[in-house]
Amino acid sequence: MADKDGMKIAKDYHIDKPFAKQGGFYVKGMSDVDWGMKARLANIFQPESGHTVMLAFDHGYFMGSTSGLERLDIVIPTLAEHIDVLMGTRGAIRTCIPASTGKAVALRVSCGSSILDEDLSHEIIGVSIEDAVRMNASCMAVQTFIGADGEKESLDNLCKTVDAGLKYGIPTMGVVAVGKQMERTSRFFKLATRILPELGAHIVKTYYCEDFEEITSACPVPIVVAGGKKLPEDEALTMCYKAISEGAAGVDMGRNIFQSTDPIAMVQAVRMVVHKNATDKEAYEFFLDTKKE
Ligand code: R5P
Repeated sequence: MADKDGMKIAKDYHIDKPFAKQGGFYVKGMSDVDWGMKARLANIFQPESGHTVMLAFDHGYFMGSTSGLERLDIVIPTLAEHIDVLMGTRGAIRTCIPASTGKAVALRVSCGSSILDEDLSHEIIGVSIEDAVRMNASCMAVQTFIGADGEKESLDNLCKTVDAGLKYGIPTMGVVAVGKQMERTSRFFKLATRILPELGAHIVKTYYCEDFEEITSACPVPIVVAGGKKLPEDEALTMCYKAISEGAAGVDMGRNIFQSTDPIAMVQAVRMVVHKNATDKEAYEFFLDTKKE
């Protein structure tokens, strides 16, 4: 049994010091990965800013049709020109998104629970590495359930995906799930965002929370921030601004974009914060000036 007695509380995050091991490649912690993996990471994290705007529209994999995503074929292509990465399932991307958009793909590869299930934490890997290669995936996304029933199997999914991706130079994004059984404290997020890169994840998707700077400091790979449930646009932009100011390398947002009163104005506002150092106030003013009445 692991010895948990006598563990000291972590506190030396050195938030003011840049990450030490950059080795000439701008994506955090990725100086020693293979050329192909660097090229895929550069499709995700834009070389000019080092950041990314991912559009999450993978909700159907466990929720079915979601408000705002009833017609993926209509909604997603209109947003695609304003984003860097399409995050979705192979079924949604193949059937609804023209390959000619030329955007990077964060391919959802884990699945196995639906909203009809009380416990969503039991997933499998539902996409082979060969199909991820065929889809030209720039990374593969695996849901993980730290502290929930399905913790061990989800970490097994993550490790197996990392191993498969390493063979072909495809990075893995570990997604920190929150659920009924799980805490949403900074203690929980600190734990989860450290376990996933230690197991080999190249990118971590998590939620914004208190002590976020400590979380980004202690995580040796880039963190992208999840959007979560729909907020008023100004609040969503403030969350985005705080996350980027406190060390996130981008966002992976869904409902806060496609359920906005004007999704195109909103995605452009998010992009200003992520790539152009705009403040939340500037971005919200842009949103108000740009949105259609
Ligand atoms: C979350 O972990 C899943 O990937 C979701 O299906 C999706 O990405 C959530 O996006 P949002 O919370 O921004 O709508």
